[in-house]
Amino acid sequence: MTTRGRFITVEGGEGTGKSTLIRSLAEALEADGNSLLVTREPGGTPLAEEVRALVLSPPENEHWSALAEALLINAARADHVEKKILPALKAGEWVLCDRFADSTLVYQGAGGVSEDVLLAMQAEVTRKARPDLTLVLDGPVDKLLGRRAQRGTSDVFEARPNSFHEEVRAGFLKIAEREPGRCVIIDALQTPAAMLKDARRAVRERLVAA
Ligand code: TMP
Repeated sequence: MTTRGRFITVEGGEGTGKSTLIRSLAEALEADGNSLLVTREPGGTPLAEEVRALVLSPPENEHWSALAEALLINAARADHVEKKILPALKAGEWVLCDRFADSTLVYQGAGGVSEDVLLAMQAEVTRKARPDLTLVLDGPVDKLLGRRAQRGTSDVFEARPNSFHEEVRAGFLKIAEREPGRCVIIDALQTPAAMLKDARRAVRERLVAA
């Protein structure tokens, strides 16, 4: 029987260095000999990528309510879990996912959807695939602002005011505090190399030694 793979998610607000960390962590995990699937949310399958485009870049002058976003993102997640994440885990692969269910709880929660509704959707959609480890990249919103601006791209969430991003930061920290067995907070003001070191330590201590 193949051992089930490990499921790692990376979460955090805008400008926390998520993409850079995911790239370097993926290289490190592969160098350690793990067969690895790197994927992202919203997205990860052809259908879910269509939903991503709809949610992040709606037609001009149109906008989704936070509830509609939550429903769309969970629909995309259901497809992603069923068709990609679960088969990979069952085949013994490790899965490294750029954002997952915590992002919905935090972003759509900050948008006004009640936690009860979001948790009910999450329970059903993630029933068969819960992260073994979640790296929460955290740093002060004002300091991370510059990085966001430098990237030049802006989706509907990035364009929101600082107060929204403060709420997002607080939301992730609350989840990390509530689930210390799954979540590890990584200081996003460190150098990329130091962030990778922390991430590798978390993987070693939480997953490899487990
Ligand atoms: P990214 O910039 O990290 O690719 O994420 C895309 C945006 O989508 C980001 O601003 C956060 C948002 N998002 C949600 O609002 N809810 C979710 O469940 C997910 C996965 C992302």
